[in-house]
Amino acid sequence: MKVLNASHEETQVTTTKSTTLGRCPDNPPTLVGPLHVEFESKRTLDQVREIISPRLQEGGRYKPPDCVSQQKVAIIIAFRNRHEHLIHWLYYLHPILIRQQLDYTVYIVNQDGEGVFNRAKLMNAGYVEAMKQYDHDCFVFSDIDLVPMDDRNLYRCFDNPRHLAVAMDKFNFHLPYSNFFGGVSALSKRQYLKINGFPNTFWGWGGEDDDIYNRIVYRGMSISRPNLVMGKYKMIKHKRDLHNEPNPKNAGKLSRTRQTMDKDGISSLKYTVKEIKKDILYTFITVDIEAPLR
Ligand code: BGC
Repeated sequence: MKVLNASHEETQVTTTKSTTLGRCPDNPPTLVGPLHVEFESKRTLDQVREIISPRLQEGGRYKPPDCVSQQKVAIIIAFRNRHEHLIHWLYYLHPILIRQQLDYTVYIVNQDGEGVFNRAKLMNAGYVEAMKQYDHDCFVFSDIDLVPMDDRNLYRCFDNPRHLAVAMDKFNFHLPYSNFFGGVSALSKRQYLKINGFPNTFWGWGGEDDDIYNRIVYRGMSISRPNLVMGKYKMIKHKRDLHNEPNPKNAGKLSRTRQTMDKDGISSLKYTVKEIKKDILYTFITVDIEAPLR
């Protein structure tokens, strides 16, 4: 009898475990800390697929098998003609995000055509398209060429908008200036909507991240950041992109963010989806954002 009771109890424990998972812990237990990051030119997308895809679902989605994540994170990357960078980014980021026990999906938002690049408008389109795919409540906006050098830098949302890329190698592992909000940032759905999303009118390189910083401050929020050890990043070296020249007009717009932010943002966003392709490593969304020619 005793034996029967014991085995009956055991069966019940197993059943409970498989149906009700606990919340994932605040500090993921499998993080390793500092990482060695090297951009080897021989790396291919097929190699990355072979290593990582068994753990993913179509579209570049992951959910921890053993706990319930506290947030549903959309990783959004503004993209054009950087296929080699994408390989390195996927190679490093997927294992990091998996160790961070995130429920996440990677969205690559590809600007169609040869017009002037617009990072912030692509990010806005990424927000809208990600929301059509899943009930995301946290958005991490990242450049394609930035890889974190420490997996304790969590790709999730905090009580205030988060700036993650605080110590890039190209800035000698320091913030270039105290209001810097470039590279990689994370905003919850509520924080993003509170600032009317990002500006759509910063064509070419520069300034859009400073405008986003202004929006956050004008809406009474502050910036959360990791420390300079956990916030280290390695940037993939590259030549300046064609059709993404520094735009001298952008800096001049920054004094007017307070007046422009309610009119220019997610509320005024216009774009057309050309194609959505789901790879095992990412969802690739090509959009026409009505870019002017240079
Ligand atoms: C630009 C930002 C850029 C930063 C660092 C600033 O002058 O306005 O967009 O992120 O420099 O390169």
